[in-house]
Amino acid sequence: MSDFVTVNEVGPRDGLQSQGKTLSIAERLAMINALLASGIRSIEVGSFVSPKAVPQMAGTGELFAQLPMTDSVAYSALVPNLRGYELARAAGVKSIAVVLAATEIMSQRNINMSLEQSTEVCVELLQRAREDGIEGRAYVAVAFECPFEGLTSASVVQSLTTRMFAAGARKVIIADTIGAANPQSVRDVLGPIVSAHAASMLSCHFHDTRGMALANVLAALDLGVREFDSSIGGLGGCPFSPGATGNLATEDLVLMLDAMGLRSGIEPLALVDTIDKVQALTGVELGGHSFRWLHRQAGKQQGGNHA
Ligand code: COA
Ligand code: ZN
Repeated sequence: MSDFVTVNEVGPRDGLQSQGKTLSIAERLAMINALLASGIRSIEVGSFVSPKAVPQMAGTGELFAQLPMTDSVAYSALVPNLRGYELARAAGVKSIAVVLAATEIMSQRNINMSLEQSTEVCVELLQRAREDGIEGRAYVAVAFECPFEGLTSASVVQSLTTRMFAAGARKVIIADTIGAANPQSVRDVLGPIVSAHAASMLSCHFHDTRGMALANVLAALDLGVREFDSSIGGLGGCPFSPGATGNLATEDLVLMLDAMGLRSGIEPLALVDTIDKVQALTGVELGGHSFRWLHRQAGKQQGGNHA
């Protein structure tokens, strides 16, 4: 099995969308440049959503126009509906992620559509993307537990995943939006999906609300999953999911992969400066479980600059 794991940085989208402070386009660009400087090569840049619903993500098209363009970086954007898709396409986005909540109430709260309507919209967007030569990915949100409906049905998650693949999704991202998964529920939800499709078609998105995100990553790694979302400094939350707190911190993920001999192409200590910069930009105190330790190591390496 491959020892390379793709770390998809979602801080500029999932991390910023719930912040009290709305960053300017220049600040969002500065954050992305800092992420690139630390070796991150897969970034969810933002979302094309209603600026009334999520003001923090206004101007994502403008941001795309200013991104440093290099072949080695994969940029993507979240798209909730046809309007968002058209805006993303016009902005030259090469990879979109549609979002499908696995429960009825979450679907209504998040994108104001029933689950069935939302599924149909996602299918249409993925088909359009395929026709337009844009990579399509699909989030299945609240895949473990919903803040409104409680435990999510694993068979619903599986059937939605299958529908997304049938519509042309290149990857389905199984998302624990509120951070309620545990290693056993990861096995229960992902196991049948991995058996029905290839693990290489899946990615996981964990939040660290209950401190189990890394344990969940390990359970998913054991099932063969080799792609994970994470957010620098654990920045994150979801404005439409009560109780959703920070994402799995990128530095925790990268450090664990590194310690386990799995390659991500990212040097853990290189993330320290980036976290400091993002902290300054957002005004939020950041850092997952390993941040203080990494900070001390980086300080030692640089002769005390990070004491
Ligand atoms: N991008 C920009 N503007 C959009 C848009 C998009 N993707 N979709 C709709 N709008 C605008 C419409 O033009 C309309 O503007 P107006 O009031 O100036 O005419 C307004 O938003 C309402 O449009 P409507 O189609 O009625 O949408 P809605 O009010 O039912 O909201 C969503 C639906 C999906 C647009 C909205 O709920 C949303 O953006 N949610 C964000 C979800 C999200 O980001 N969740 C976190 C990530 S999972
Ligand atoms: Zn999330």
